[in-house]
Amino acid sequence: MNVVMIGTGYVGLVTGLGYAKLGHRVACVDVDAEKVGRLTLGQTTFHEAGLPELLREMLDAGRVLFTTDLPSVLESADMVMIAVGTPSGLYGEADLSYVFSAAEAIGAHLKHEALIVMKSTVPVGTNRRVLERVRESMRKAGREDLTSLIEIASLPEFLSEGNAVRDFFHPSRVVIGADDTPTHAMLDRLHEGVDGPRMYTTIENAELVKLAANAFLATKISFINEIANICERTGADVREIARGIGMDPRIGTSFFRAGIGFGGSCFPKDVSALYQIAGRNGYDFKLLSAVIEVNERQQEHFLAKIEHALGSLKGRRIGVWGLSFKGGTDDIRKSVAIDVVRRLVGAGADVCAFDPLAMENAKRTLSDRVEFAPTAIDAATGAEALLVLTEWPEFRDVSFPTLKERMIEPRIFDGRNWLADLRLPSLGFQYEGMGVCIPGMTS
Ligand code: UDX
Repeated sequence: MNVVMIGTGYVGLVTGLGYAKLGHRVACVDVDAEKVGRLTLGQTTFHEAGLPELLREMLDAGRVLFTTDLPSVLESADMVMIAVGTPSGLYGEADLSYVFSAAEAIGAHLKHEALIVMKSTVPVGTNRRVLERVRESMRKAGREDLTSLIEIASLPEFLSEGNAVRDFFHPSRVVIGADDTPTHAMLDRLHEGVDGPRMYTTIENAELVKLAANAFLATKISFINEIANICERTGADVREIARGIGMDPRIGTSFFRAGIGFGGSCFPKDVSALYQIAGRNGYDFKLLSAVIEVNERQQEHFLAKIEHALGSLKGRRIGVWGLSFKGGTDDIRKSVAIDVVRRLVGAGADVCAFDPLAMENAKRTLSDRVEFAPTAIDAATGAEALLVLTEWPEFRDVSFPTLKERMIEPRIFDGRNWLADLRLPSLGFQYEGMGVCIPGMTS
């Protein structure tokens, strides 16, 4: 099939290349000419495991092209996918302006029957509004006769950063939301070679499945963070509680890592968007407002612990390990680590940070007062406290005796419980995690 993918961000690029690998011809369109130029040369614009290799393979096979020129690639399109950003608006609602401008551009230039497919995460009811915008734009272009041949489908993505390429080919499910069986069948053919189970449903159901899935995962994280806070008050260990409750298959073990809260491009945005959708439909989704509040409070709680131990942070040297919103990515969107660093700097601390991949992105957003170190040990050198803010495997492999020698005070605040099993107190560190209880730990 000939697929046009509008948007070469995270979702658009990974899924576009995925469809190309399945044997389809994919034209990826973006308004950013520089990005298009880089991708055409085989250079990816963000870090994702396996993506550079997939990009080069598909360029060499001639199955993918990158362009800013939508009309030229629309001519041969069987389907046009929209994978543009839907950032949070002022009140947490999804800002749909990029989605609607893509819809108008499609309608202005489409001259034949085609299926519009929504990959962007959008509020319930958006697909039908987008279809109406496409048709309206076709009418304005004098192609009223074609409007009834244009249909829309919702195909939400469930890619997790760092595992996105794998998730594309081996998804937990492919949710296909469409009005009729031929459209379901067409999208099924598009996914031949993808091994996850299919769910055929309505457009509205598919739209809501995506938001509800992310909101539920975020709820699990806030729940375990609340349990962690109870653990701190009762001398229990949240890792053991997570293990114990997770052994019940109805609950499961995943997304039960306590810490400083969730971030990233999806969870904060999707939880707020679902909360807004409920409100607009006259319903107060109480659970979600608590999920958001608990997430924000975790960060406060973490900072309060540091202040409790160090006193005023003014002029105190603090090492930071991790800036990306989670390990395995250079993405700092809505990263809790970045928020924590900003607040440390705001409180007058001298921060020296290290992240294996995200430092270039962090430099663009953090103040000049933050120093960046070439290694994890260097970031902690001369520090009175070290904060672990992102779960990077390499942080577990440093030489802890060397780290201890280099720090002024061997004190670690672990916002991800990432080093909790390494027996750091027995190596002479003061160690504090989030809701963990280990012998020799400070409390
Ligand atoms: C998420 C969903 O997992 C994915 O299905 C969806 O399509 C997009 O949003 P992603 O944003 O890449 O993916 O990251 P994810 O691994 O889900 O983590 C999100 C945040 O939650 C991170 O900040 C992570 O550190 C945090 N997290 C995750 C926890 O605090 N505890 C956990 O147990 C799991």
